[in-house]
Amino acid sequence: MSKTYLTGIQSTGMPHLGNYLGAIEPAINFSNTSDGRFLYFIADYHSLTSLRDPKIISEGIYQVAATWLALGLDTNKAIFYKQSDIPEIFELAWILSCHIPKGDLNRAHSYKAAIAANQENGKKDLDHGVNAGLFKYPVLMAADILLFNTNVVPVGKDQIQHVEIARSIAQRINQQYGEILTEPQESLSEGKYIPGLDGRKMSKSYGNSIPIFESQKRLKKLVNKITTDSTGPDEPKSTEDSLIFDLYKLFANEKEVINFAKEFEQGISWGHAKAGLFEVIDKRIAPFREKYIHLMENRNLIDDELELGAQKARIIAKETMTRLRRNIMGLKS
Ligand code: TRP
Repeated sequence: MSKTYLTGIQSTGMPHLGNYLGAIEPAINFSNTSDGRFLYFIADYHSLTSLRDPKIISEGIYQVAATWLALGLDTNKAIFYKQSDIPEIFELAWILSCHIPKGDLNRAHSYKAAIAANQENGKKDLDHGVNAGLFKYPVLMAADILLFNTNVVPVGKDQIQHVEIARSIAQRINQQYGEILTEPQESLSEGKYIPGLDGRKMSKSYGNSIPIFESQKRLKKLVNKITTDSTGPDEPKSTEDSLIFDLYKLFANEKEVINFAKEFEQGISWGHAKAGLFEVIDKRIAPFREKYIHLMENRNLIDDELELGAQKARIIAKETMTRLRRNIMGLKS
């Protein structure tokens, strides 16, 4: 039997080059070339645990959807939808809530981290600033997963505990009512290490990231922000521990890398090196950028894709809910 793979994507604005090389490109290649059922969805309701601005939320959804579509996601191979279009997820989330001990959620990393931060800041109320949505985040995520009979959830390290929670709720329910849910496994999808502009891992929260579809002008500016040492323009430069060289390697072909290394050895000005880096990034991104801009200017195209994805997803969702309503509640439909 072919497997079902499902993963959720946060809708927090335009993804960066680290997201692209580390997660989006591998996911798109995987679904385009492997057998199985693939569901990739935008976890927009999850963002409500922290965001309070409807403009930012909806803009984030469009930016993320346009990015995946522009980068070549084949929506005939992967069902692509947004969470908020699938009401069954929220119905299932309630059922799951009633089958997980509250104490298990007390032990979830994200909640524990919030509590620890309050403790550190000397807050009397350790739940200060923690909304119930944040507390129940793992339950909503379990519903995302279990609704679609998911076998495998490709996730980063920080999400493994969430998949374990989903599996444990499924086991509990299966023990009580018979095998009515698929018990999911995580698969660690830690992609390549992509350094940011300051050499640390590229991350929005470090402020060192390059958004994928920046304009050429902004992209050039960002690349120019990379700090370099004071070796003169004609002096040889080491390719070891060179952020410019490391980033270049990620985007260039073999021949370009060999030539670039030669230039480093012979002496290249940092200005030239940065221009070279800008060029390889831009060459790789430019064709997708046009598509991205086109989609963002014609958002009905994005709406249509997500709507179609939701229709396909809801066929599976309804089957699962009928099964659960019958087995858990004794309801006929
Ligand atoms: N919590 C995940 C993240 O922060 C996003 C997500 C939501 C998800 N629902 C999911 C991932 C279901 C995998 C499966 O990245």
